[in-house]
Amino acid sequence: MNVLIVDNEPDAISAYEETLSSNKYDLKLVYNGADALELIQAEPIDIVVTAWRMQEMDGIELCRRIYQGGFKSNIYTILISDQEANGELIRSLGSIVNDYIRTPVNPIDLTVRLAIGARVVRLEHRIERDRETLKKDYYPTVRTLSHLVNVYDDNLGDHSRRVAEASVKLSRMHPGVPAVDYPTIQAAGLLHDIGMVCVPASILTKSRTEMTAGERTLFISHPIQGESILNENEKLRPVAALVRMHHEQYNGKGFPDALTGDQVPLSVKIITAVSTYDNLVHRGKCPLEDAPTELQRFIGYQIDPALYDYLIRLNTDNIAIEARKKYQEVRLEGLVEGMVLASNVRMKGGAMAMPVQTCMTAAMIDKLNQYNQKGYVPNKFYVYKR
Ligand SMILES: [Fe+2]
Repeated sequence: MNVLIVDNEPDAISAYEETLSSNKYDLKLVYNGADALELIQAEPIDIVVTAWRMQEMDGIELCRRIYQGGFKSNIYTILISDQEANGELIRSLGSIVNDYIRTPVNPIDLTVRLAIGARVVRLEHRIERDRETLKKDYYPTVRTLSHLVNVYDDNLGDHSRRVAEASVKLSRMHPGVPAVDYPTIQAAGLLHDIGMVCVPASILTKSRTEMTAGERTLFISHPIQGESILNENEKLRPVAALVRMHHEQYNGKGFPDALTGDQVPLSVKIITAVSTYDNLVHRGKCPLEDAPTELQRFIGYQIDPALYDYLIRLNTDNIAIEARKKYQEVRLEGLVEGMVLASNVRMKGGAMAMPVQTCMTAAMIDKLNQYNQKGYVPNKFYVYKR
């Protein structure tokens, strides 16, 4: 742990050095803020202990420059002062300045506060390492599996991406969801239906009442199948646990475990509620303006009553977003003559199939149908709103 001591007073520096020499810190000593910044640029520093009152650059200014310096890792700062905390210090504490000690400095006090700083630094390093591991391993795996869902059924892929995005958005609104849970919620949103790859595609378009008893059994198994797929990767086990529960209901009538109320974690309730909302407005083609009324049918079932207001806020945001859009997404069956493409339609290899601004005619819609049946173009287009 590299600790930098900054003070204009050589006597003070010597005193800190003597106090801390018996601890396992690699001490660096400088006599002003400019030298401190130069050293921080050149060497990795974990903790800075600086006097507040110094000539040319005072301690708070030094801490501010460290804070705004964009160094690779955060540097923990402890300010030492012979004056009471004033408004400037109080505003700086917790962001620019991490800790504050009054003079005369009690050696035990300094040792303890430095130990606390060292612990914070070690935890931050661990979080940084975990984040790097996630980037290298976890996210590519989630993206690969999400791609698999999309290849299996692009409607399901679109639904899953929207659920992931909206679940994180709702989580950010909700004070009960810690930020550390967002990546797991996003992955569970993307992969909540991955177990459907074990279910014949012919079942996907059927409602539960249209399924035969055998088909229903297969359908009901998809949360467990999804859990089992994700459990193969140890890092995805927290996601697997959420995926297993995404068809549980508030009233205990869900599957596979008939959990009820708060037996289901908040993160799963959010995914289930958002998935219900997405199915209503996209698959059920319910206009966004009607969603608040329509969603009431699901309260106490797929929607925890406490989440209804959050869904309404999400819906209000979506209404505003849609109003700003100049284009809309349509599938082949929704294409009609006179619609104008708002983006290029490309073949899977990248070649142009139909350029932006093309006005749809019956022949063109027929051509896109043929391309789609052969798997050349996706079943999703953007056209200008009319
Ligand atoms: Fe599902």
